[in-house]
Amino acid sequence: MIVAVLQGSVRRDRMGDRAAKWVVSQLEKRGHEAVLVDAAALELPLLDRMWKELKDDSDPQFAGLREKLQPLASLYERADGFVVVSAEYNHSAPPALTNLIDYFLEEYFYRPSAIVCYSAGPYGGVRAAMQLRALLTEVGMPTIPSLQPIPLIGQALSADGTPLTQSMAEKTGKFFDEFDWYMSALKDARARNDPRRAPAAG
Ligand SMILES: Cc1cc2nc3c(=O)[nH]c(=O)nc-3n(C[C@H](O)[C@H](O)[C@H](O)COP(=O)(O)O)c2cc1C
Repeated sequence: MIVAVLQGSVRRDRMGDRAAKWVVSQLEKRGHEAVLVDAAALELPLLDRMWKELKDDSDPQFAGLREKLQPLASLYERADGFVVVSAEYNHSAPPALTNLIDYFLEEYFYRPSAIVCYSAGPYGGVRAAMQLRALLTEVGMPTIPSLQPIPLIGQALSADGTPLTQSMAEKTGKFFDEFDWYMSALKDARARNDPRRAPAAG
């Protein structure tokens, strides 16, 4: 499966890339192609025009932005699922994450999403995840039932995403198994009838 891993924390001292690296390694262990979409590396401005408004606009003032968004559009078109890696800022998702998501809409449709949330505290970002779940469903990539929270992230993962605790090392099975099931089920359903494609003539 092809999985887009969305990371939307852009603080210079962020912990989010630990969680994103861990997610990429878990997906790769399962044989998936995991592609990281890092809001910090992309440096997207606060949303003005969405991709669908920009893609056919030849205005040179948007040329740089189109260049950044085109690979994302191509990736999202190919993706079988999305893992959204979210911190918790004031019990909500980080604004750079929702900004990254808001650039697209139809490109997400008919694929599942899965939330990996984290925080410096003991609750692992689950309050942000609850809000994110509503957003992700609205943009057409409904979330799987399980969440993968990572509490005390600085103690749970090293800078390269390696588990530092027994409980982190043991976090694998159910969440990613469930995501695999939903990716596979919706892939089969799209193969039979993909609502994103126009029906064949005749
Ligand atoms: C603006 C802001 C708000 C925060 N609010 C919460 C919060 O509501 N709950 C929580 O558990 N941690 C909160 N934290 C602490 C974060 O869990 C911690 O800083 C975490 O590392 C943030 O992710 P990041 O490093 O990838 O940006 C907040 C941090 C920031 C910067």
